[in-house]
Amino acid sequence: MSFTGKSYDFRDKTAGYAELAQALAGLLHGESDFIANAANTSALIFDALPDINWAGFYLLKSGQLVVGPFQGKPACVRIALGKGVCGTAAVERRTLVVPDVEAFPGHIACDAASRSEIVIPLIAGGQLLGVLDIDSPKLARFDEEDARGLERLVEIFLQDVRVEDIG
Ligand code: SME
Repeated sequence: MSFTGKSYDFRDKTAGYAELAQALAGLLHGESDFIANAANTSALIFDALPDINWAGFYLLKSGQLVVGPFQGKPACVRIALGKGVCGTAAVERRTLVVPDVEAFPGHIACDAASRSEIVIPLIAGGQLLGVLDIDSPKLARFDEEDARGLERLVEIFLQDVRVEDIG
């Protein structure tokens, strides 16, 4: 099984995300370790999506979001619920598309190059587990199609994963 060297065509976002969803399902098939699958999910997304500089997870631990598997520059470790884009998406339990991070009150800047951001909450059986966070150095990089496409990827990620592994 090889996932290296494959490139995805996102000129047609619907087709790009459909292909990526299939690749993710294949990549995670037969494995349910939460951290392993989160690591591979962030690596696949980081490799596949154009114009992004960070992709990864913040996981809910003792009432705080703590950085989990990711790709990109080192990031802030802890985010309080309700703070930043991640903490807000977590509390509101909905995907947040932020076209200009500087216009988002309380945005937490981890990589100064980031200009826009999308955060998708991880909810399994009604329980908030964390968020998937993706940053871009381009303004308004993400739209509703990205939101739907990434929500589908999160759904695939959450399908068979062992929640107890988060610790
Ligand atoms: N910008 C995020 C913080 C996490 S970093 O982007 C990786 C926020 O405002 O919550």
